[in-house]
Amino acid sequence: MRIDVFTIFPEVVEGYCAASLLGRARRDGHLDLRVRDLREATDDARRTVDDAPFGGGAGMVLMAEPVFGAIEAVEASDGLARPLLLLTPGGRPFTQEVAAELAGVEGFSLLCGRYEGVDQRVADHLVDGELSIGDYVLGGGEAAALVVIEAVTRLVPGALGNDQSANEESFADGLLEYPQYTRPAEFRGWAVPEVLRSGDHAKVARWRRARALARTLERRPDLIVARGGLSTEEVRLLAEAGEVHLLAEHGYDS
Ligand code: ADE
Repeated sequence: MRIDVFTIFPEVVEGYCAASLLGRARRDGHLDLRVRDLREATDDARRTVDDAPFGGGAGMVLMAEPVFGAIEAVEASDGLARPLLLLTPGGRPFTQEVAAELAGVEGFSLLCGRYEGVDQRVADHLVDGELSIGDYVLGGGEAAALVVIEAVTRLVPGALGNDQSANEESFADGLLEYPQYTRPAEFRGWAVPEVLRSGDHAKVARWRRARALARTLERRPDLIVARGGLSTEEVRLLAEAGEVHLLAEHGYDS
C-alpha cells in the first residue's frame, strides 16, 4: 500500500506515522508512506502557501500554485498514487466502508487542506475526490489524514499481524463491538461475566453476538436500521439475553 501525503506540516505526519501500528507496517513493508512538504514548490524567501480570499472575509486560503507545483513535481518524478483525495469538512463522509474500499487499491494520495479553505481550482482540476472524517471543523487536514491512514492500513493484509482481528470487530459487520475483559477475573469487586470463563465457545459466541446487538440497538439504532433491522433470529437471541425491554423500546415484539 503506497500513500503519498501532501501537507505543510510534514513533521507532524511523520511523527505520528513513525510510532505503533503505522511505524511497524512501514518497517515491515506493508505501508510505503511518503510525506511531502507543500512548501517545497514555493520559490519566494518566505515560502508562502496562502493568501487572502478574493471577495474578502477572514482567514487565508491555500493557494493553487504551490499545491499544483508540489503535486505535479511528484507526479513527474516518482509518479503519483491515485486517487488523490483532499481532506476537507465538505468531503464524502469517511466510514469503515470507505476505509475498506481504499485498502483494496494499490495506493492513494492525501492532500491536507489548511486555513479557511483551499483554492477551488485545486478541488476542480487536481484532486479526484474529497473526504471528511466528521461533521466538525479542524484547523487543517493533517489529523484527518492520520485517521484515514490508520483506518486503511489496519485493513491491509498482514499489517495487523493478525488478519482475523480487523474483520471481527466493530463496524466490520455493521455492529458496535461486544465488551472485552482481561485478567484479573475480579477487580475491585467487579467480576468478569461468568460465560466468558466457561470455556464453552458456542455460548461465548452467542453472548458476544447478543451484547453487540444490544449495544448497537441502544447506542446506535441508526446502524441497525442501515443493515435492514433485526432478523427473527437476532430478536430471539436478544429476548433470550433478557433484552425484552430494549426490544420493545425499538418496536420489536419478542
Ligand atoms: N479539515 C478540517 N476539518 C476536516 C474534517 N472534518 N475532515 C477532513 N478534513 C478536515
